[in-house]
Amino acid sequence: MINKIQTLSGYFYDYQKSVQDPEHFWSRIADAFYWHKRWDKVVEWDFDGPDVKWFKNAKLNITENILERHLFLLGDKPAIIWEPNDPKEDNRTISYKELYEMVCQFSNTLKENGVEKGDRVIIYMPMVPETAVAMLACARIGAVHSVVFAGFSSQSLADRINDCEAKMVLTSDGNYRGDKKIEVKSVVDEALKSTSTVEKVIVYQRTGQEVTMTEGRDIWWHDAIEGVSTENKAEIMDSEDMLFILYTSGSTGKPKGVVHTCGGYMVYSCYSFQNVFQYNQGDVYWCTADVGWITGHSYIVYGPLLAGATTIMYEGVPTYPNPGRFWEICDKYQVNQFYTAPTAIRALQAYGAEVLKPYKLDSLRVLGSVGEPINEEAWHWYHDHVGKGRCPVVDTWWQTETGGILVSPIASVTPTKPSYATLPLPGVQLAILDNDGNELKGNSVEGNLCVKFPWPSILRTTYGDHDRCKQTYFSSFKGYYFTGDGVKRDEDGYYRILGRVDDVINVSGHRMGTAEVENAINEHPKVVESAVVGYPHDIKGQGIYAFVICDMEGRSEENLKQEIRVTVSKIIGPIAKPDKIQIVPGLPKTRSGKIMRRILRKIASGDTENLGDTSTLLNPDVVDDIRENVI
Ligand code: WT7
Repeated sequence: MINKIQTLSGYFYDYQKSVQDPEHFWSRIADAFYWHKRWDKVVEWDFDGPDVKWFKNAKLNITENILERHLFLLGDKPAIIWEPNDPKEDNRTISYKELYEMVCQFSNTLKENGVEKGDRVIIYMPMVPETAVAMLACARIGAVHSVVFAGFSSQSLADRINDCEAKMVLTSDGNYRGDKKIEVKSVVDEALKSTSTVEKVIVYQRTGQEVTMTEGRDIWWHDAIEGVSTENKAEIMDSEDMLFILYTSGSTGKPKGVVHTCGGYMVYSCYSFQNVFQYNQGDVYWCTADVGWITGHSYIVYGPLLAGATTIMYEGVPTYPNPGRFWEICDKYQVNQFYTAPTAIRALQAYGAEVLKPYKLDSLRVLGSVGEPINEEAWHWYHDHVGKGRCPVVDTWWQTETGGILVSPIASVTPTKPSYATLPLPGVQLAILDNDGNELKGNSVEGNLCVKFPWPSILRTTYGDHDRCKQTYFSSFKGYYFTGDGVKRDEDGYYRILGRVDDVINVSGHRMGTAEVENAINEHPKVVESAVVGYPHDIKGQGIYAFVICDMEGRSEENLKQEIRVTVSKIIGPIAKPDKIQIVPGLPKTRSGKIMRRILRKIASGDTENLGDTSTLLNPDVVDDIRENVI
């Protein structure tokens, strides 16, 4: 097992070693895993390519490190505890041995249905253990999974299927979320009308709702696995073979497929999990994310299972059937490490601390936060009321592209500071650059957050478009990986993330490209042009504010706004619906025709007085109109 950091001096020591001799540092950690063949070289890299290889020419299968490696000592230990949406329904506990059998059986099922090493498989499923089984079965046979959050629209799903030319879709009939029953299979049916690569669809029965099954293409999960062997020999993968693709939004165009590979991702997701959360054998760990996001990949499925942990998978929402549900689950399973998003904390905080009264919460030892900056008020509420002042709050900064946590306190080791992600993990060499690309050394500086040396789970490419990867992450500052976030390093050398400096907004911890939302709005036939910006939102962190020029003929303003919301929901999904829509006569533009977002961002955030110099605008008069009618 990986040796955990135990003291602050131990952290500093490891950090120093990891910078001095990264190859030695990571090879010692990688030695804790099972490899069919050891690497020829620990790391080989060039950020100009970009071309990064970790554990070069090593051979492994990540699922052998989750399953076979744990069977002897942990076979009967719960791997996954599943808590259903409805507390009255039975929960499920799946031991490592059972998980092994389920994964082997489903691996064989995938193969029987034509999936081969290298094929892409889309997973569009609810939060049930079978979703983790599906991911692991793909990994076991060398197929590349791409999980799509089951709240995305049919068009978003179709775009992803087409981009990666998926051969198979794994889905469910429906999905429970709070008091709602959500259509899932019908969304897949709709998506498949505009795709041509999918040969088979395997459907897990969750809600029992009526669905249409297409003869020859669609099979029920329970029928597909019936009688299939529970023994399977894992495919031997190269360290740099693709493990999965996960689509995420950027500042321009359609979402891109972030690619992670087998060896480096395995080592880093496990290492970061064990250290940040200080997981000890026997602990019960719970991350409330959905597996459709990177947090679910790295810190519900891969990291914890590689560490032989017990990971809870919760199907429902924080407030169903009541706002005490999270705390009830913590007590029920005696959760030791709890990991959630600031938006959930703020939403629960709004119900008041009385909601927490009936619960003991005395098993909790570590509280994690992820996805967006956590404001001081929410940090204190989490620390004082949930953690009763006993539990360190680990504010973990990372991204889909980083594969794992890069900046975070090590629980009970790193002294915390409200709303600070604190210090980089060993192996992570941060740099703060000004807009001209000069590295700002020393403390008390603020600028663009970059990384100057690869860590094992850095993205390798964006699927099917390597140049886009280079342009997006490795071209703003030559020789650096650019995160897109602004950051401050304070007088103690502690890092505080300030939020995105590009046109990406973060709504309830979900990443959205402003251009992507604009494109969706513009699909409405009456829309002439639109501009979308983020604005501060009490619960969501950021809300979506859309300024829209419309042809109003024959429509009331309210109807039109409603139609625009429906359009966005259909094209991207409900999570992208604008919170505010303002119909405007024009958009402030520079003489070269570029929309001045800076002005719109200020207006949307309520700062309508200090707009700076607007005299260079092509149309300064529209600013007054927009300002007067701000929502
Ligand atoms: C963006 C990445 C990391 C998994 C979930 C989101 C923001 C993430 C923090 C944090 C401040 C944070 C950043 C980042 N972000 N964690 N602890 N403090 N900001 O992954 O969807 O790829 O989004 O989320 O802006 O760039 P993602």
